[in-house]
Amino acid sequence: MTDSPTHEPTGSPTSERTSVSERIDLAALPHDFLWGTATSAYQIEGAVAEDGRSPSIWDTFSHTPGKTDNGDHGDMACDHYHRWREDVSLMKALGTNAYRLSVAWPRVVPGGDGAVNAKGLAFYDELIDGLLEAGITPSVTLYHWDLPQALQDRGGWPERETAEHFAAYASVVAERLGDRVTHWTTLNEPLCSAWIGHLEGKMAPGLTDLTAAVRASYHLLLGHGMAAQAIRAACPDAEVGIVNNLSTVHAASDRPEDTAAARRMDGHTNRWWLDPVHGRGFPADMREVYGVELPERAGDLATIAQPLDWLGLNYYFPATVADDPSGPAPYARSVRRLGVPRTGMDWEIDADGIETLLLRLTNEYGARRLYVTENGSSYPDVVRPDGTVDDPERQDYLVGHLAACASAARKGAPLAGYFAWSLLDNFEWAYGYDKRFGLVHVDYRSQVRTIKGTGHAYADIVRSHRGRASRAA
Ligand code: FCB
Repeated sequence: MTDSPTHEPTGSPTSERTSVSERIDLAALPHDFLWGTATSAYQIEGAVAEDGRSPSIWDTFSHTPGKTDNGDHGDMACDHYHRWREDVSLMKALGTNAYRLSVAWPRVVPGGDGAVNAKGLAFYDELIDGLLEAGITPSVTLYHWDLPQALQDRGGWPERETAEHFAAYASVVAERLGDRVTHWTTLNEPLCSAWIGHLEGKMAPGLTDLTAAVRASYHLLLGHGMAAQAIRAACPDAEVGIVNNLSTVHAASDRPEDTAAARRMDGHTNRWWLDPVHGRGFPADMREVYGVELPERAGDLATIAQPLDWLGLNYYFPATVADDPSGPAPYARSVRRLGVPRTGMDWEIDADGIETLLLRLTNEYGARRLYVTENGSSYPDVVRPDGTVDDPERQDYLVGHLAACASAARKGAPLAGYFAWSLLDNFEWAYGYDKRFGLVHVDYRSQVRTIKGTGHAYADIVRSHRGRASRAA
């Protein structure tokens, strides 16, 4: 499959490519930098009813009328479950040396707890071997939002037992893959699971209940700590981290009400997720804002604050907020800034934000190692008659953000890798398939993959960095 014509670099001329990597201070990045792509199980795998997989909350949510654009769902997605070998060859064609994937809990422990599904584990086992054979370091995320529906039926994340079952499942996966995988993530973006899934209702399980949301946030972080312990027990060489989506937050004006709203939004988006895992407890100001009693038990805070080998940052856009006393917690409403560039998601583009956040994690939280675990942009791509996909806006987003990452590294951020979101166009949750984030275009009818211009540009950047690193060695 590697020699399929769609995988051959056909991008921009060499001179243009050189200038792309020249915009990035590649010398600031370490020689062993991980150049990766990222995906998640439900967004690409398909095969939802195969080999013993049970439904997850995302199967339920996406099949509930009105919850996703066009009623899209992940039943087939990119059919990666059957096409993963081709997808690994695409990673090779891009020249990447790392890949961030997630394991689907409902494939491995379909009931949420109890019996392990051998066929589900075997899929990941083979995939890991395939990646290693291709010289690609796997980075495994244990939870990217696809809770087994069976556990949701028993209360889901608002209940403590879900955290315990998560740790047991983590242990099963780490025992099986831990001889080959060292790079582990417990949770992807717990903010989305808790706030968007339980408070805003725009993601599975689709609740709009502040108490449930706060309890879910607590048990997600508790589950993170318990899972970190379980992974390390099964795999002593494990390097464990957590992945958060953070934002820079700006006040819409210098009115004290808006400044206070920005502080609350920072608490809601950033500090609530960072402080507890760094042993600082849950921020007192936000506990007051939510006014919900935490389901605390003695020892939980220590469990949540397991030492971390690294922190993952997912960054897409900044936030500008104004006071909103009658809105939902945290009583801060996003304000649309006029005259600023935006992606096809209508998300504001601000590459400086990624630098600010990397430096904040370094200076305020003392991060010892950082990865950008997701960053990317969606635009409505078209395959041209000559079979190529030209996406200059995405390329500009990539280069701008990589330049900002390198600048953060130059200023002391211990940045060890960058994972572009995403390897493939895929099921973009409630937005369905219309939003395309891939470095590789997917035609969902034929499942044909085509490397976009940005994919070629990424390959060039990786190659330039590697050339520089080997010359320096
Ligand atoms: C992040 C998610 C990822 C993808 C990108 C666009 O919040 O982790 O799955 O949807 O956004």
